[in-house]
Amino acid sequence: LVLVVDFGAQYAQLIARRVREARVYSEIVPHTTPVSEMLARNPKAIILSGGPSSVYDEGAPSIDQGIFTTGTPVFGMCYGFQLMARGLGGEVAHTGAREYGRTSVTVGSQGTLLADVPAQHTVWMSHGDSVTAAPAGFDVLASTAVTPVAAFEDVERGLAGVQWHPEVLHTEHGQKVLEHFLVNIAHCRQTWTMVNIVEEQIESIREQIGDRGRAICGLSGGVDSAVAAAIVQRAIGDRLTCVYVDHGLMRKGETEQVERDFVAATGVDLKVVDAEKQFLDALAGVTDPEQKRKIIGREFIRVFEAAEAEILGEVDDKVAFLVQGTLYPDVVESGGGAGTSNIKSHHNVGGLPDDLEFELVEPLRTLFKDEVRLVGEQLGLPAEIVWRHPFPGPGLGIRIIGEVTRERLDILREADAIAREELTHAGLDRDIWQFPVVLLADVRSVGVQGDHRTYGHPVVLRPVTSEDAMTADWARVPYDVLERISTRITNEVREVNRVTVDITSKPPGTIEWE
Ligand code: XMP
Repeated sequence: LVLVVDFGAQYAQLIARRVREARVYSEIVPHTTPVSEMLARNPKAIILSGGPSSVYDEGAPSIDQGIFTTGTPVFGMCYGFQLMARGLGGEVAHTGAREYGRTSVTVGSQGTLLADVPAQHTVWMSHGDSVTAAPAGFDVLASTAVTPVAAFEDVERGLAGVQWHPEVLHTEHGQKVLEHFLVNIAHCRQTWTMVNIVEEQIESIREQIGDRGRAICGLSGGVDSAVAAAIVQRAIGDRLTCVYVDHGLMRKGETEQVERDFVAATGVDLKVVDAEKQFLDALAGVTDPEQKRKIIGREFIRVFEAAEAEILGEVDDKVAFLVQGTLYPDVVESGGGAGTSNIKSHHNVGGLPDDLEFELVEPLRTLFKDEVRLVGEQLGLPAEIVWRHPFPGPGLGIRIIGEVTRERLDILREADAIAREELTHAGLDRDIWQFPVVLLADVRSVGVQGDHRTYGHPVVLRPVTSEDAMTADWARVPYDVLERISTRITNEVREVNRVTVDITSKPPGTIEWE
């Protein structure tokens, strides 16, 4: 275990991911965690992340200086580097010289930390103060035009640091430097693999549930719920029932993927509720996006709870478990720890005793999204599910601009399937974050096909790149791929006579149109 101490910037999660990419398990702790508490977890190393502040700022986040003398190896990055320098008697100065973004660094001595790193390379910086003198016992390894001490190490004591951010993509050799610290200075063993995760999780779920009752899991068709369900199925077999609500707003083939391929791959007990009519009736005449969301959310809970009641009504167990695909970033953001959650949610399920308690089972609480996909592959889930792009809960309901009807859904499903097929065909699935296809159902435009005038609907292609959906850029999909999509849609989907591409970034546009 490596602990990443979070000083409140956005970097801690990325650092934790990079450590795991080096096959060493890591978790994030807030900087307010007492050092004794960190040590009680027996970490092999501690990493101090970057932070927003200057070590001289009033109220700047700090850490018990004792952390540097416990014998546990420590790596400081950026702000953490300065805390280490200062905590051990080096000098940190307000030089007035700031470095932001791409910076060239000169490696004077490779030492252990910078072994095999070129003498000149580019790193990503973000700091105002600079370390001007390293603490006694440290070797200075690198500098920049304005920072005399940009990297140092004291291998004997297991201490090292860099002024830059090795975790970000724009830093050359960042992962190599991190691995040098982990492997050659902290002597961590690189044993964190998805095979271990699966085995550990199955065991811990068996312990949690024991013979106390049944579990229910809602499947959305996405990767998180599918992987969570597959793990729980391995742990408790047919005491897990999965519920899939077919609201009629899914894309072409998705329901079949869950019903047929997912069940074949995992053997889960699946209950499919065909609620298309109920959803479409409730959506009739509605055009406002937020109203659509509310209606879909409300109907979903109704259908899901009715299914739960039916499943649990068949048994006398008073304890029921609800499986959720909560990921590690959600846990960190809500201030929780990675351990098993003991949140109990009281569920208002019609027809069941009031004292029925749901206990949450969250097999993915320690995992990042990319790890969940690897676990999914490990479990043999269908590639279409494991690598599926994020898809909104309200489904195609918010990709039809205007009223949602069965006929319009069918048009959009055909156009969307062509776009997805061609993207896959071009080998671009993993480069594109999401590729919504939007039907402008209330708009018509004139076209000509053969010798005939047409009066059809436009669709909008909305391919975007993104890291987390908070910001996004329009994806530069190659023209020949766009051309094939456009030609096929206008040829194969009779109602569509125009294909357009949305080239708005987020912000100002959102990814979805509604
Ligand atoms: P926007 O459109 O806000 O989308 O840029 C950001 C991400 O969230 C997804 N999204 C939703 N997901 N229910 C969901 O479960 C929703 O109502 C919803 N609206 C947007 C969207 O697909 C993108 O990944």
